[in-house]
Parts: sequence; structure tokens; C-alpha cells
Amino acid sequence: MENNCFNMTKLCPDAHNTLGTVCIFGTGDFGRSLGLRLLQAGYSVVFGSRNPQNSSLLPKGAQVLSHVEAAQTSRVIFIAVHRENYEFLSAFSQELAGKVLVDISNNLMKNQYPESNAEYLAKLLPQANVVKAFNTVSAWALQSGSLDASRQVFVCGDNSESKQMVMDIARSLGLTALDQGSLLAAKELENYPLQLFPLWRLPIYIATGLTAAFFIYCVLTDIVYTFVTEGKNNSYRIVISIANRVCPIVSLIMLSLCYLPGVIAAILQLYNGTKYKRFPDWLDKWMLCRKQLGLVALAFAFLHVLYSLIIPIRYYVRQRQNIYIISQVKDNKTLTFDSTMSWRSDSFYSLGILGFSFYVLLGITSLPSVSNMVNWREFRFVQSKLGHITLLLCTAHTLVYGWNKFLYVSRYKWYLPPAYVLSLIVPCIVLVLKLILITPCVDRVITRIRQGWERKSVHVLHDTSGQPLFL
Ligand SMILES: Cc1cc2nc3c(=O)[nH]c(=O)nc-3n(C[C@H](O)[C@H](O)[C@H](O)COP(=O)(O)OP(=O)(O)OC[C@H]3O[C@@H](n4cnc5c(N)ncnc54)[C@H](O)[C@@H]3O)c2cc1C
Ligand SMILES: NC(=O)c1ccc[n+]([C@@H]2O[C@H](COP(=O)([O-])OP(=O)(O)OC[C@H]3O[C@@H](n4cnc5c(N)ncnc54)[C@H](OP(=O)(O)O)[C@@H]3O)[C@@H](O)[C@H]2O)c1
Ligand code: HEM
Repeated sequence: MENNCFNMTKLCPDAHNTLGTVCIFGTGDFGRSLGLRLLQAGYSVVFGSRNPQNSSLLPKGAQVLSHVEAAQTSRVIFIAVHRENYEFLSAFSQELAGKVLVDISNNLMKNQYPESNAEYLAKLLPQANVVKAFNTVSAWALQSGSLDASRQVFVCGDNSESKQMVMDIARSLGLTALDQGSLLAAKELENYPLQLFPLWRLPIYIATGLTAAFFIYCVLTDIVYTFVTEGKNNSYRIVISIANRVCPIVSLIMLSLCYLPGVIAAILQLYNGTKYKRFPDWLDKWMLCRKQLGLVALAFAFLHVLYSLIIPIRYYVRQRQNIYIISQVKDNKTLTFDSTMSWRSDSFYSLGILGFSFYVLLGITSLPSVSNMVNWREFRFVQSKLGHITLLLCTAHTLVYGWNKFLYVSRYKWYLPPAYVLSLIVPCIVLVLKLILITPCVDRVITRIRQGWERKSVHVLHDTSGQPLFL
């Protein structure tokens, strides 16, 4: 029964008044899950199988026919078969001429084949219209309906009418269809599900490296040192005190690493006298993962705030306070109010709270639902301007916390500086460089360069007698 609405963009409603008939080749995991969703959405589903009799697992209401018979029922055919088995399709290329073949296939490795699976299918069946789609949606997610992680269906193909039909089907399944252009984009779409958090990798490596390094450093200077020099076992400090030292330090350094590439970029642009010269690869990669760097840093700041909030209820802290008060009573001493100390601790907390609020604001604006609501200038304002203010506040919080501790020799255990001093190095470098870059004379040049102005080098040519010719 030949479908007679081949020229229309939409599938024709059939006799059962469904949205139309969709054909699926292959009754495996993906074919069955897609079939179920299509039936639920109101389509008639016809499977094409090598073995139409063996159909016990198929969703109720679907028909199973041979490939040739099934191909005749619908304009759109989903090829839910692995690429390695595509050869069988060329046996009935006549029946597939003019059909929209949806290639949903993925590979086991990136760039496994010289051409994409979709381009291979198009080469195999040149009279069909191949559309690449649905390969980023998993069979399990389709079946369970929990499509939170994979609601987007990337679609590409050379025939826009065919692409539109596939996008309409995706939308009627409650998915978000995104046009990715021609079939040339298929390779990228096929590589996409094989990626494992590519932009998160570097930030996670940095966070792990810094956490490990500072944890060892703090254990050495706070616990091992006390044990070796005083014979006291302070190991209980690992759980909260050391954790609450490592988390803010990692957070502060990572926050400054979000803003260091922007500063390096500006210095390179100043040096090159143009914005048209490409940045080195490492800088490009660094710039691309700043959002992830920032979000990991924010997670560490959250931990620091939570750890700090429970300080007053810690047994160790209460015990120390009690011992101190009792010794005061015993010695009949009265505590004098130190107003400098009061200023210092209030300023330190206030700077931390302000810094953390701005930090959270940066995190909120990076949510796609929020960033889609602001224009590019507003986004840059929050991320760049407020971002630098956040870095300034958090650095000031740490500086006021440290105050003059770095002046005391007793703080240099085994000649090692206190950890907070190390945490301030990168943030201070970033802030000082940024301060230089925003001074009017430097800023003017950078702004001009970023607007397209180029510093021309003077070409010195020589005439035949060796005299310089200035152009
Ligand atoms: C919690 C948190 C969330 C964050 N979320 C995001 C986020 O969602 N998205 C995000 O991008 N960052 C995010 N960041 C990182 C950071 O806030 C931004 O990247 C911020 O814009 C960096 O500001 P900047 O002034 O250093 O650099 P930029 O705003 O990039 O400005 C530097 C200048 O360099 C130039 N430039 C930048 N890139 C290039 C390039 N590739 N080639 C040529 N010139 C270039 C531009 O002219 C620009 O004016 C987040 C950070 C944190 C802490
Ligand atoms: N599973 C997923 O989550 C998922 C997600 C995205 C994309 N995909 C892609 O979807 C395609 C199918 O995956 P799947 O998980 O459904 O695989 P599967 O469970 O192995 O099913 C493949 C189906 O292909 C048919 N088939 C097998 N060998 C064949 C051959 N030699 N000739 C013709 N047909 C053959 C079989 O159906 P019949 O016995 O009925 O002929 C089989 O059930 C793959 O390209 C995969 O990359 C899968
Ligand atoms: C609500 C906000 C915050 C509060 C209440 C707070 C509180 C504290 C406290 C109590 C300490 C001392 C910890 C100790 O004695 O071991 C501290 C130290 C520190 N804080 Fe914060 N803080 C806040 C936000 C931040 C933020 C956003 C950062 C930046 C990432 C930050 C960075 C630091 C650093 C680097 C130290 C020094 C760690 C050390 O060497 O011990 N703080 N903060």
C-alpha cells in the first residue's frame, strides 16, 4: 500500500486517524524504544525486520513486515541497525528511492571510519534523502521518558524538506530539534555521544591536583609538624580544619584561573598589536573551559561556607573556648575589648559574605535559562566586571584573614609559608595585571585593538645603494 502523500512535508494521517505512519528498520533496543514513543505520540508504527514472525517484544499496536513491505508504508524510515550491517539496504535501493532515511547510528570510537555513517548511507543509497538525527538520545531515555539529559535532537541533512519532517517528528515526541546544517555535520554529531565531559576534564584535573597538593601541604605543616616537634596528635583536624583550609584555597586559586587567561589574552593582543592573530592552542582551550573552572571553584566555595558555618558548634572549638574562659576566671582576669580585632574579624567576614554572594550571582547567570534572558553586553558585564570584583573581594577576605600572620617566624613551619600566603599568589598577580590593563593609557590601546585597529610595523626596504627606503 503505497503512501500517496510523498510530496508533503508532514506525514499524512492514516485511516486510524493517527499522525501518520513511521517505519523503523530493526527491532533492536533503539527501534523498539522509538516505536513505543511514536505510538504513544499518536503515530502508526511499522517495523521492517529480517524476521517479521519473531515480534513478541515489540510494543503493542506496531506492525512487523519484511523490509520491502515496511518501506512501502511510510515516507520516513528510521534505520535502527548498526552501520556494519547497512550493506543489506542496497538490495532494495529501488524501494528506498525518494524516502527519508533517518540515520541514528553511533560508533564505538571517535573517527572510526573515514566518512560519517550518514554520508556512507547516502553513498550507498544515492536516490534516498539521508538525515542524521536522534543519535544523541539513548534507547533507555526514550523508553523511560526521562529525557532530562538528552532532550535535544541534533538534525542535519542536505534536503531541507526531509530535515523538516524529521524535526516535526522529534518535536511531536516532546524533544527539542536543533538544525545543525548539512550532512557534513554528521561526523561531529556522531562523535558527540562519545565525548565524556570534554570541557570539564581540565577543571577537574586542576581541582584534583590543587586539592591533593594543598591537603598534603596542610597535613605536613599542621599535623605532622606538631607531632614531630611537640609529640601532640592533632590528626582530628583533618576532617574539618584542614578541609576548611583546602577548600577555600582551591576555590580562590581556581577563581583567579578564570580571569588569568583574559589578562594573558590582553597582553598578547597588546604585544601583537592586533586581535587578528590566533591565540596559542593552550590559551584557546583554557578560555573555553572558564565556565567549568568557575563552577568547580564555586562548589569549593560552597563547601568552605558550610564548613565555616559549623565552626561555633564544633566540640574542639567549644572546648577551647571553655578552657580559655575558665582560665580567665581562675586568674581573675577581665577580657579587654579589642576594637582593632573586632574591625578585623567583622571586615573579614563581611568581605567573605560579599564575595560569596557575587560568586553565587556568577553561577546563576551561567545557567542557560538565565543567560538566554540577558544580552551579550549584560552577560559580559556580570561575568567580567562582577567576576573581577568577586576575585577582589575574595582576595581581600583572605588578606584580612591572614593580616600580619605572615610576619611571624613561628608561622613558617619547616620554613614553609602558611598555606593562605600561597593561595594569594595567583589572585594577586591577576589583580595587579588587571589594574595595569585598566589604566586609561593601556585600556585605550586594548580597546582600539579589540575594535579592529592594528599596529602596522614599519617596513624598511633598501635601495640598490643600500640606503633605507621608508614606506
Ligand atoms: C561561578 C562562575 C560561573 C561562570 N560562568 C561562566 C559562563 O557561563 N560562561 C563563561 O564564558 N564564563 C563563565 N565564567 C568564567 C568567567 O567569569 C568569564 O569567562 C569571564 O567573562 C572572564 O572575563 P574576562 O574579562 O577575563 O575575559 P573575557 O570576558 O573573555 O574578555 C577578555 C577579552 O578577550 C577577548 N577574547 C576572549 N576570547 C577570545 C578569543 N577566543 N579570541 C580573541 N579574543 C578573545 C575579548 O575581546 C574580550 O574582550 C564563570 C565563572 C564563575 C566563577
Ligand atoms: N541503543 C541505544 O541507546 C542507541 C542510542 C543511539 C543510537 N543508537 C544506534 O541505533 C542503532 C541500533 O542500535 P540498537 O541498540 O537498537 O542495536 P541492536 O539492539 O543490536 O539492534 C539492531 C537491530 O538491527 C537488526 N540487524 C542486526 N543485524 C542485521 C543485519 N546483518 N542486517 C540487517 N539488520 C540487522 C536487527 O533487527 P531485526 O532482527 O529486526 O532485523 C537488530 O535487532 C545503532 O546504529 C546504534 O548506534 C542506539
Ligand atoms: C559566607 C562567606 C564566607 C565565610 C563566612 C567565610 C569564613 C571564613 C573563615 C571562618 C575562615 C577561617 C577558617 C579557619 O580558621 O580555618 C576563612 C578563611 C578563608 N576563606 Fe573564607 N569565608 C567565606 C567566603 C569565602 C570565599 C567566597 C572565599 C574565596 C574563595 C574564601 C576564601 C578563604 C580563604 C582562602 C581562607 C584562608 C584559609 C586558610 O588558610 O585557613 N572565603 N573564611
